Amino acid sequence: MKNNKILISIFLCASIFISLSSCRKDKVQSTIDPNCIDTVSFSQVVLPIIQQNCTGCHDIGNSTPYTLTNHTNISNNATAIIGSMHGQSYNLMPQGGPALPDSIIQFVQCWINQGKLNN
Ligand code: HEC
Repeated sequence: MKNNKILISIFLCASIFISLSSCRKDKVQSTIDPNCIDTVSFSQVVLPIIQQNCTGCHDIGNSTPYTLTNHTNISNNATAIIGSMHGQSYNLMPQGGPALPDSIIQFVQCWINQGKLNN
């Protein structure tokens, strides 16, 4: 009985810790500075955004017009990528919508403004 209580407390602490740390992450994403003061990491931020939302269709061997899998092909196609995320001058992507949240698009825009670093 006592052991059960200890296990439950450990479980509760772990859950609270996990939900608090994920909350903090959300907050960082939604309050990104539109002036791009913080340097955006390609490997930690931009690549995961593309992998989660685009690479499923834009992978090597897929028949879509762009392959978006690494720093070289993503930075070479940055204008098309940001245009398609806004649905401006390019078809809106992800295909079929909805558009990604502005806070996510802003990360990609900042990374472009900062010189498309491979960081
Ligand atoms: C469900 C599959 C799918 C997903 C997800 C997807 N695309 Fe596409 N994309 C396509 C297809 C198919 C085309 C070619 C037909 C068209 O232009 O709609 C295309 C075309 C494009 C084009 C060219 C559009 C034009 O007007 O010439 C760009 C740029 C692009 N995608 C970027 C992206 C980016 C960036 C993402 C992620 C935010 C993404 N795509 C997500 C399937 C997808």
